[in-house]
Amino acid sequence: MDFSGQTIAVAITGGIAAYKACDLIRELYRRGAHRVLGILTPTAEAFLPALTVQALTRYPVYTSELAVDDHGVPIHIVLAQQADALLIVPATTDTLAKLAHGLADNLVTTTAITFTGKPVLMAPAMNTRMWEHPLSRKNLDILHAVPNYHLIQPSSGSLACGEVGEGHLADQETILQALYAAIHPQKGLFQGVKALVTAGGTSEPIDPVRVISNRSSGKMGLAIADELAAMGAEVTLITTRPPSGRRYPVITVQTAAEMKAAVEAQAPENQLILMAAAISDYRVANPSEQKLKRTANESRQLELIPNPDILAGLGANKPAGQILVGFAAESQALIHHATQKRQAKNLDAIVANDISRSDIGFEADHNEVTVLFPDGPPHSLARSSKPQIARQLLQLLHQRFFA
Ligand code: CTP
Repeated sequence: MDFSGQTIAVAITGGIAAYKACDLIRELYRRGAHRVLGILTPTAEAFLPALTVQALTRYPVYTSELAVDDHGVPIHIVLAQQADALLIVPATTDTLAKLAHGLADNLVTTTAITFTGKPVLMAPAMNTRMWEHPLSRKNLDILHAVPNYHLIQPSSGSLACGEVGEGHLADQETILQALYAAIHPQKGLFQGVKALVTAGGTSEPIDPVRVISNRSSGKMGLAIADELAAMGAEVTLITTRPPSGRRYPVITVQTAAEMKAAVEAQAPENQLILMAAAISDYRVANPSEQKLKRTANESRQLELIPNPDILAGLGANKPAGQILVGFAAESQALIHHATQKRQAKNLDAIVANDISRSDIGFEADHNEVTVLFPDGPPHSLARSSKPQIARQLLQLLHQRFFA
């Protein structure tokens, strides 16, 4: 990881892990950073003197939101203009709560909200109870949804207070990796790759009004298509939930049969296929052409007949060099069922999704998945916004199949 030419703003907030920021600043210089600019909250200064940070960064260090540079320009504006990324390390409960609610009451929070269009990374460190508090969870959800905000998951370990649990500042390498990935969104990672993505839940007509469907929102597939496009791929999205304003082609379908026809027409020319769509396994045998009328006190039966498994069909006829990625929505025995699906459908990878949890997966804005390849250990992607999960998934696939 080379930070040559980069200017990194390091914001330190008031927690005992503040001292670890010192090593991080030195490491950034060791790895070629052009400038590291330090700022502190007033509470951080109680843990770490500004003079120490100044000696390590070799630049003036500011601690007040009212601070200005030699030309009278407010420091938060200077930092937002000059730095390539803002790294808040450690990020305390208080700072995360303020950022989640858009407060700007000290130099760190004021700088963060001025930092638009560039990455802001937060490395939380706190006691486990604070980290797990429902209010902290809510604030993290809000922060996850901000496109340029990146949370670096704390680890589990012994905490400064003597307790053991989650809330330990992530290790230096993890923080540097997250910073590196955020600064280099890997624009060209999938340059020249043709990719097909499916999204949303299909619906099968019962009559002209009613359908059998599922709760898939199409957000995960859409996030994958968007991220692939941002990484340079030539993307086609087939979805039941068409988004607006996309530059890549979007094909809208409703039923599994329409999905099958669209997928099979597009598949041969694509090198990478990601099937995130939740496709109905059954359809109504004889949908009524007229609206079914209520028949008082009589039950009604629908005959369901199986739909073809589109992905298994692609897997059975996979051309050499094509990478086929499936999704597995499971409510129990996640890894076991996902592994079976990967093998049965002849997939290069499967993304296993626990749909029994309401905070991730179907309809949610967040996800937490495990990626399984034919060999090697499972890769767990910790709970994050769907765009962030998409980014990490694509980086994994790139490493594995396109590097
Ligand atoms: N899939 C498909 N065609 C279907 C059903 C599923 O192509 N008729 C694809 C999905 O897009 C997904 C993968 O197969 O990538 C797994 O879908 P999932 O619904 O998790 O599993 P199923 O294979 O349908 O098995 P089950 O419903 O029994 O879990």
